[in-house]
Amino acid sequence: ATAARVAVVGASGGIGQPLSMLLKLDPSIKELNLYDIVHTPGVAADLSHIPFPAKVTGYKGADSIHAALEGCDVIVVPAGVPRKPGMTRDDLFNINAGIVKTIAEASAKVAPKACYLIISNPVNSTVPIFAEVLKKAGTYNPKKLFGVTTLDVIRANTFVAENQGTDVLKTNVTVVGGHAGTTILPLLSQVKGASFTPDALAALTHRIQFGGDEVVKAKDGAGSATLSMAYAGYLFTAKLLQALKGEKDVVACAFVENTLTAAPFFAAPVTLGKEGVEKVHALGSLSAMEQEALDKALPDLLAQAKKGVEFVQNA
Ligand code: APR
Repeated sequence: ATAARVAVVGASGGIGQPLSMLLKLDPSIKELNLYDIVHTPGVAADLSHIPFPAKVTGYKGADSIHAALEGCDVIVVPAGVPRKPGMTRDDLFNINAGIVKTIAEASAKVAPKACYLIISNPVNSTVPIFAEVLKKAGTYNPKKLFGVTTLDVIRANTFVAENQGTDVLKTNVTVVGGHAGTTILPLLSQVKGASFTPDALAALTHRIQFGGDEVVKAKDGAGSATLSMAYAGYLFTAKLLQALKGEKDVVACAFVENTLTAAPFFAAPVTLGKEGVEKVHALGSLSAMEQEALDKALPDLLAQAKKGVEFVQNA
């Protein structure tokens, strides 16, 4: 199996560092390349002392991005800037969009066959940006581009288990749609063995959609979710690596290109295989409330994808 070379782009950040640490602890990884514009030699030196097989190498600065990505099977991208006081959402969009575009261009050039796992927000737009850059370069493979929505899934599992008093390790909630606010669609009607009061249903849905705000508030505005996002990113990467090695029936929710809805990219459960996405699962039956939420989310998803595509086309 060749699926053992992983790069983390934005490896020195609040998400990037714990994510890199979790990946270092995965014995199936042989090479772990840490790229960032700052601090990666230090992060790599530090992690390299942990006795696991992955050889950790730090790459710092734009001149080294090609060396960092070349030959990698999986490229995980938590690069970006978090929102700072005085910054509008548009400011944040433009900065992160530019960062993601640069990373996509480098990826197309030196790692055209890799799987790309996008964490940089806003995922609803950054994934379409990545796709558009790859399309322009002629290397786009929709089976290998993923927006990581695993944080929505793990939050849903945690909150639902808490509400139902069930074993969190055996609670599996399907979360579809997008990766921001009301575009996040937890399918609570499909949770096996669960029953919710109408109030609990509304409250849980809202908590899953806006769980990130709880963390921002608790951190006094100094940052957003990093540790739980790092774990989520690791979990999805680990599942993908298992599938790339040939393990069967690996299923995970992810934001991928598909035709389930009118939105070009839509998170759904997907079966992963040696070549990335093997099958996108149908949504199954939705409750009236879920259908209504989906209908409301689609225009937002379409607009956010369009914004990403236009960012690349107008560049
Ligand atoms: N190339 C690579 N890395 C970059 C670049 C770039 N062009 N620009 C910034 N970075 C790095 C920063 O140097 C930093 O180490 O990305 C990292 C981001 O880390 P933090 O600022 O701590 O932000 P974090 O909380 O980790 O969030 C990163 O993920 O969930 C999203 O909304 C979040 O978009 C944000 C991203």
